[in-house]
Amino acid sequence: MHKINSGTHIKSSPSSNPMQLSLFDNVQFIYELALAKYELQVLGVDFSVADNLRTFECKALEDTSYLKNRLAYFQKVNGETTDYAKIVGYNRTRSPNQYLTHWIYPYKGKYHPQMIRALLNVIDIKKGDVILDPFIGSGTTALECQLLGINSIGIDVSQVCVLISKVKTESLDALSNIEEMKDTLIEEGKEPTLYSYDKDAPSKIGNLGEMINKIKDKKARNFYKVAELIAHSDRSRRRKKDFFGSFKNNVEKMLSSTLDFKKVVEELKLPLGNVDINFGDARNLKLKDESVDGIITSPPYSIALDYVKNDAHALEALGYDLKKVKDDFIGVRGTAKTKVELYEKDMEKSYDEMYRVLKNGKYCVIVIGNATISGQELRTVDKTIKYCEKIGLKLEKNMDKIIFGLYNVIQKENILIFRKQV
Ligand SMILES: C[S@@+](CC[C@H](N)C(=O)[O-])C[C@H]1O[C@@H](n2cnc3c(N)ncnc32)[C@H](O)[C@@H]1O
Repeated sequence: MHKINSGTHIKSSPSSNPMQLSLFDNVQFIYELALAKYELQVLGVDFSVADNLRTFECKALEDTSYLKNRLAYFQKVNGETTDYAKIVGYNRTRSPNQYLTHWIYPYKGKYHPQMIRALLNVIDIKKGDVILDPFIGSGTTALECQLLGINSIGIDVSQVCVLISKVKTESLDALSNIEEMKDTLIEEGKEPTLYSYDKDAPSKIGNLGEMINKIKDKKARNFYKVAELIAHSDRSRRRKKDFFGSFKNNVEKMLSSTLDFKKVVEELKLPLGNVDINFGDARNLKLKDESVDGIITSPPYSIALDYVKNDAHALEALGYDLKKVKDDFIGVRGTAKTKVELYEKDMEKSYDEMYRVLKNGKYCVIVIGNATISGQELRTVDKTIKYCEKIGLKLEKNMDKIIFGLYNVIQKENILIFRKQV
C-alpha cells in the first residue's frame, strides 16, 4: 500500500526540547490512532508514539499554530488546548460527537465529525479548497469543512437532508431574525391541522406549518421548518408526545447551539468556509469536470437502511409523495430480487461521476461497509475497490472501522482512500 504524501508545512525550531502532543481521552479505536498518526505525518511532523499510546513526542517546532488550528484527535499541543478541543466543548447533548449544530435532527447513519476533520488533514485539504460530498445526508462533511475554512458542496436526493444540512450550516446568518420571531411562532401556531401519519387517531397539531411557510428570510424559515420536522418525528414515533412542547424545546435547543456556533467562531476567529448544499443526484452531478479538490462521503448503506422509510414522516410533512421520491434513492429502488443489482449499478454511476469531477492527483475518501441481507453478507467493499480501481481511482489506504452496537445492520466499515491517477 502506498503512503499518502508527507506535507512540508512546518519548520523545526532550533530548541532541543521535544514537544508533546496528547490525544483526546475518547480516542479508543485503532483506526482513530492510525488517523491521528496520518494527520501528523501529512502535516510534516516527525514524531514517535510513547508507550502509553496517548502521548506523541516530536522535535520542537518553530510555530505550532497550524497544528493547534487543524488537528482532530489531539487535545493538547505542548500543553496548549487545540481549537478542536475548544469547539467540542460547545455541546448541548450528552454525546461527545454532537457538538454545535451536529445534533440537529435524529438522522440515522451519520458519520463521526472528528473522523471527517482528521480525514481533511490526511488528504491535505487547505483553507479555500473545495470538498464534495455527493451523499451529504445530515451535513457532517459540510459543517466540518466550514469550521476549517474549507469550501464544500453537498448533494442529496432527499429534501429532508438538504434542509437539515442547510440549517446546520446557515442558521448563523439568520440569528437575529430567528430570535425575533420565536415567541410569536410558539404562541400563535396552535390552530388545528391534520397529519396523515396519525391515520388511526387523527390529531390536531396547529397551523404552525402555514406560519412558517410565510417567513420571508429563507434561512430563518428553514430553521423553524426543521424544528417542526423534529417535532413531527418525535410525535410519529411516540404518539403521546406533545407536539408543541417538542417544537418549543427544539427551537430553544437549536437556538442555543446556533448561539454557541457564533461564540466559537468569535472566540477562535474562525474563517468559515462557504457551504453550498443542493438537491441532486449523485449519479448525475451538475458540476464541471475536474472541479473539486477532494471528496469525502459515505454512500447509502446498500439496502440495509431505507432512507425513505426512516424519514417518511418528515418527507410527508414537507409535502412529498413517498412513492415518487423512492425511485431516485439508491439502495431503496427495485423489488427484493433486483434491489442489490440496481444498487451496484447506481453506485458505479456515482463513482464515475466522482472520478469525473475530481481534480487529477486528488483524493476521494469513501466510508462504506458490507451489508448483510437474509444472513448473507454482500461484498460491497471489495466490489467498490475493484470498480474504483478500474476507472482510475487508485486505492492508497484501506482502514477497518469496527462499529459497536446491538442494532447496527453493519458491524464493520472501511475507510477507503483513493487517489485519482494523473
Ligand atoms: C449514509 S447516508 C450519508 C450520511 C452522512 N455521511 C452523514 O454524516 O449524515 C447516505 C445518503 O445518500 C442519500 N442518497 C441516496 N440516493 C442518492 C442519490 N441518488 N443521490 C444523492 N444522494 C442520495 C440518502 O438520502 C442519504 O442521505
